[in-house]
Amino acid sequence: MSWSVISTWKMSLEGNRKAGRILESHGTAGDAVLLGVQDVEDNPAFHSVGYSGLPDAGGHVTLDAGYMDGDTLEFGAVGCLEGYRSPAAIARSLIHYPYNNFLVGEGAAAYAENHGFEKRDNLTKDSAERYLRERNLNQTHSSYKGHDTVCFLARDEKGTIVSCTSTSGLYLKEHGRVGDTPLPGCGYYADSTIGAAAATGVGEEIMKGALSRAVVDLMAQGMHVQEAADKALADLKERLGENIRPISLIAMDKDGNTGVSTTLAFPFCVAKEGGDTELYLAEPSETGITSIRKIEDPSELSMD
Ligand code: GLY
Repeated sequence: MSWSVISTWKMSLEGNRKAGRILESHGTAGDAVLLGVQDVEDNPAFHSVGYSGLPDAGGHVTLDAGYMDGDTLEFGAVGCLEGYRSPAAIARSLIHYPYNNFLVGEGAAAYAENHGFEKRDNLTKDSAERYLRERNLNQTHSSYKGHDTVCFLARDEKGTIVSCTSTSGLYLKEHGRVGDTPLPGCGYYADSTIGAAAATGVGEEIMKGALSRAVVDLMAQGMHVQEAADKALADLKERLGENIRPISLIAMDKDGNTGVSTTLAFPFCVAKEGGDTELYLAEPSETGITSIRKIEDPSELSMD
């Protein structure tokens, strides 16, 4: 069986390479996705995830993350978590409990403290300055200022598929708001017998369609992974109308084949057994089949 890994946005390029190296050296899909997500969580240059993430309306960087193991369907998630380094690692640690798999706010922070997770103030000088500059402007809430949630899907050589997501969520969101990213079925889903999907974009739209589960359901009916991604998004567009706010999604079938669909230009990264990480740009097309082209020079894309 062969491995593969797909991830959202150009910001995941280096993390995708790291994930690919883990899988190439016979590591697990779980370790691969976590390392990939953490590469983005730790990079202060990316303002929609982890360190230096976008503050909420009260100036707090509150983080959401989810993790799902496709062999067991176990998941772990944290929402509105403040003050810790890797919400994705904390989410992953929650998967084996019979209950209490999804923790939010102070309860999530207390769990992280009690289990020795690394503390970190994710509000950097950069993100604080941006918050002070923009909080009084008439902002249209948008999770898309070039990029949004980091999502990784990976299949390892044993056939295990895992999904992992992490974000600081909607820019200037209300304190306490939790989006799609930690919600299984919405921001991510994984079933090693069928495949996996994960979404980025406006969480309120993604949640309306339980979009990641919708993609997996279509694959379960026998649809090809690319067709399933396009159909799930087309169905939601039809239901919500043409004014649907931005959404992009990535998908993987049980054999590691990948697909994407999007309402706007969307960079993503893929690595497969025997090859290096490649950067692609997906764009919606009139035909309803997502147009995908390989980007040879990452500097060609201005957005992360
Ligand atoms: N998709 C990220 C969010 O809406 O929070």
